[in-house]
Amino acid sequence: MSIIKSRIVAEQDLERCFKIEAESYAGDEAATKEKILKRIQTYPEGFIVLENEEEIIGFVNSGATHNVELSDEEFKELVGHDPSGLHIVIMSVVIHPKYQRRGFANLLLNHFIGSMKEMGKSNIYLICQTELIDLYAHHGFKHLGESGSNHGGLSWHEMSLQLK
Ligand SMILES: CC(C)(COP(=O)(O)OP(=O)(O)OC[C@H]1O[C@@H](n2cnc3c(N)ncnc32)[C@H](O)[C@@H]1OP(=O)(O)O)[C@@H](O)C(=O)NCCC(=O)NCCS
Repeated sequence: MSIIKSRIVAEQDLERCFKIEAESYAGDEAATKEKILKRIQTYPEGFIVLENEEEIIGFVNSGATHNVELSDEEFKELVGHDPSGLHIVIMSVVIHPKYQRRGFANLLLNHFIGSMKEMGKSNIYLICQTELIDLYAHHGFKHLGESGSNHGGLSWHEMSLQLK
C-alpha cells in the first residue's frame, strides 16, 4: 500500500496537472494549460495536489474573493481573485481516471477543507453536476440551488460549506 500525501502545488506539476484535467473532464469542461499555470502561479495555497510515491493522483484548485459570483467565468482565470478574501471558490476537483472510485476524492477534500480552515477562510463554494451533490453533501456542503452557469454546455448546482 503506497503512502498518500497532500501538498501545495509547484510550477513543475503543470504538465501532470494538465494531463489529469484533460483526461478526466469531458470536452471543453477541462481547463487549458494556460489557465492551470495561472492558477498555480497566482494562488498556489489554494491548489492542493494529492500524490502517491510515483505521481500526482488528483488535485483541487481555487481562488479567494470577498464577493462570490459563481457564474462568473472570468473568475476561472482568477480575474477578481484576492488572496485576502475569506470566501474560497473551487474551480476544479479532479482525480485521474486510473485512481477513481477508491476514496481519493474524499481524502483530497478532507485535506483541502483542513487547509482552508487553517488559513482562516470562512466558506468554500463550488458548482457541480447533479450526480455529485451527495459527494459534497457528505463533506457538509449545503445545496444553494441551480447555477446560472452553463459551463461546458451543462447544468450545474451551487453548493457551499461554512468553515466557521
Ligand atoms: C468526481 C471525482 C473527483 C470523484 O473522484 P473519486 O476519487 O472517484 O471519488 P471517491 O472514490 O473519493 O468517491 C467519493 C464519493 O463520491 C461518489 N462518487 C464518485 N464518483 C461519482 C460519480 N461519478 N457519480 C456519483 N457519485 C460518485 C462515491 O460513491 C463516493 O461516495 P461515498 O463517500 O458515499 O462512498 C472524479 O470522478 C473526477 O475527477 N471526475 C472528473 C472531474 C469532475 O467531474 N470533477 C467534479 C467537479 S465538480
